Amino acid sequence: MSRSLLPSLALLLLVSSMVPISEAHEGHDREGPLGDGCSSSEDARVVAEFRPGVVTVDGRGDEWAEADGFEFSLLPALDFDRDKEFSGGKMAVKALHDGNNAYFLLRVEGDYVYTKGDGYKCPSVALMFQIGENATYSSMGGCRKFGTECNSRSCQGHEVDIMHFSIGNAIPGRLYGSNPIDNQEATGDDRFGNLVDLYAWNPHCQFLDGKGPLGNDSSAQNDWQGAWWHSSLTSHSGFVEKDSPYSSDGQKGTYYFEFSRPLRTVDRLQQDVQFTIGQSTKMAVAFWYPSEGKAWGKSDHYSVSCDWMPMEFVSASSIYATSRGAWDATSAFSLILSVVAFCISIYVAYWLSMAKSVPFTPIDRL
Ligand SMILES: *[C@@H]1O[C@H](CO)[C@@H](O)[C@H](O)[C@H]1NC(C)=O
Ligand SMILES: *[C@@H]1O[C@H](CO)[C@@H](O)[C@H](O)[C@H]1NC(C)=O
Repeated sequence: MSRSLLPSLALLLLVSSMVPISEAHEGHDREGPLGDGCSSSEDARVVAEFRPGVVTVDGRGDEWAEADGFEFSLLPALDFDRDKEFSGGKMAVKALHDGNNAYFLLRVEGDYVYTKGDGYKCPSVALMFQIGENATYSSMGGCRKFGTECNSRSCQGHEVDIMHFSIGNAIPGRLYGSNPIDNQEATGDDRFGNLVDLYAWNPHCQFLDGKGPLGNDSSAQNDWQGAWWHSSLTSHSGFVEKDSPYSSDGQKGTYYFEFSRPLRTVDRLQQDVQFTIGQSTKMAVAFWYPSEGKAWGKSDHYSVSCDWMPMEFVSASSIYATSRGAWDATSAFSLILSVVAFCISIYVAYWLSMAKSVPFTPIDRL
């Protein structure tokens, strides 16, 4: 029996190590076809799965390969026309969470352009989220009050949260955004890298967190952090400011923008979106690019969608639930294995009790 059992056990172990652990995701970028006018693909969405310990916010996108995401054409936000698509390439939008923080990756194909100190002559990205239930995508909240009339009372329900990163002063691979000095002053500003936390009711009523027409909020913070990178950059030990422009202009490649933010913030005045695991939120993504080296204008940006795009924070338990079928197969397998192991131990015990003649040799005598 022992001769036939041991090889089959070895075979079992070999086979069990080849049983794939369930894959609840597809791991491929799909293209969200966006037609002319506003007819975004129905299922274009951003899904943040629970994956702790995967992402380092360093601007490199490699660790995102396994995360699902859509690829979008970048069309002018104010004239959403397929003929005017960003010529550099498409943008992939991905998100993950680790239970405490949300992580975002924006990956855009585009030639390298960089003018140190001038954010308008560098690519730039922004994320926008709905806060108030009546905040529209178009006109950044869509409140119809302007100048001195727009404030947190007259525009209640139209709040949007914005993160904007202009990389002109940001060294690739370094972390910008939330920092102790600007947070001490209770604003969403970032004096070092210009990765700012804003809110708005419409494009003319846009403020740094903590500032506003009815006074300042002493508890406001910049809650975002982020980094950027371009695939033409080659550095093993990192850059310093005097290396700028870091690579030579016009190099083909891909820009990466990586961000993180706590799911919840201290916000008391509807200036931050609050993320909840298991719930969805509405977001939009904007991209500015200095075409032919010319500075871009504020309204002169591309967008991945022409309306809010749904974004979901998936809870860890729902990932396990969707892959229960595969788990069942694995647990059946472990049951077989444990039965086999049990039989072997009985057999070994039986064999030992029969082999009383084997002398016991204390190990220190060897
Ligand atoms: C949103 O609009 C609806 C209808 O106009 C209104 O009843 C509701 O109170 C608004 N919500 C907020 C938060 O202002
Ligand atoms: C808000 O803060 C700014 C500086 O950050 C200051 O100039 C302004 O006076 C403050 N406003 C109020 C109402 O406190």
